[in-house]
Amino acid sequence: NMKKIAVIGSNMVDLVTYTDRMPVAGETLEAPDFDLGFGGKGANQAIAAAKLGGEVLMLSKVGDDVFGPNTRANFVANGIDARYVETAAGISSGVAPIFVDAKGQNSILIVKGANKHLSPVDVDRAIDDIRACDLIVMQLEISLETVYYVIELGLREHIPVLLNPAPAVAGLDMEKICQLDMLVPNETELEILTGMPVQTLEQIQAAAKFLIDAGIKKVIVTMGSKGALLVTEKEMTSVPCPQVKAKDTSGAGDAFIGCFAKHYVEGGELIPAMEEAVIYASLSTTRPGTQKSYADIDQFEAYKRFL
Ligand code: RIB
Ligand code: NA
Repeated sequence: NMKKIAVIGSNMVDLVTYTDRMPVAGETLEAPDFDLGFGGKGANQAIAAAKLGGEVLMLSKVGDDVFGPNTRANFVANGIDARYVETAAGISSGVAPIFVDAKGQNSILIVKGANKHLSPVDVDRAIDDIRACDLIVMQLEISLETVYYVIELGLREHIPVLLNPAPAVAGLDMEKICQLDMLVPNETELEILTGMPVQTLEQIQAAAKFLIDAGIKKVIVTMGSKGALLVTEKEMTSVPCPQVKAKDTSGAGDAFIGCFAKHYVEGGELIPAMEEAVIYASLSTTRPGTQKSYADIDQFEAYKRFL
């Protein structure tokens, strides 16, 4: 009886253009390189978990265009249950035009497209399959109405809900958010959620503790090369990250969450799952791209032996 993760979230196609500089208004500029990849925070997290052998149910909306069927096929190719990856008629797929300049600096546009149409009705249609899951994972690239609906559903059905509040959104309904079992923000998202400073570890701890006092059961702050921090009512524990030469950090947060969810749902313990997740995320930063930089189990095991 294998433990199962439901990811209720986004999918996007990452359109990565490498350019020396951005064109100014009215200018046409030739860029040296382009790369197409599957992305979107929900899909990335689902794929990371599945590549590591996790069992994943995906609820997502693809667009009515060339990207839709390919995105769906990518879920299936990675062993994900994609029965609830449906097409939004007449709507374009979510896309992320990403521009990387000569210094490796990213500028990203997010067009949610079909993702905005993943609705509470879609969630209800999958309810029997969601009930068979042991953890629900969400992000903020779908409609907030659906996010809030699923938080309530998790409470009612006694399924823990992990929310990655990304990308950062101001003005969330904190009464709803504080009912969560688990919140996994990065430093910026933590700052925006709490309105508190996050410059030092002490400040990050205080901001996370503020959310625990407000009702969230577990807060895990991802801090890039500084690792991750767990705060609960009873504990405050830092998990360090292996120091690697990062080439492309985009999608590393999603790698962390997918790997964490897989190990947490199966092992039931937070710290060991976080330890796996920081290593998995660090490995993803050594390779270009978001989802395509994620290792499978064999590559991950080989990397851990090498550390
Ligand atoms: O977290 C990285 C992801 O954010 C990218 O894959 C892009 O699609 C955006 O959604
Ligand atoms: Na990467």
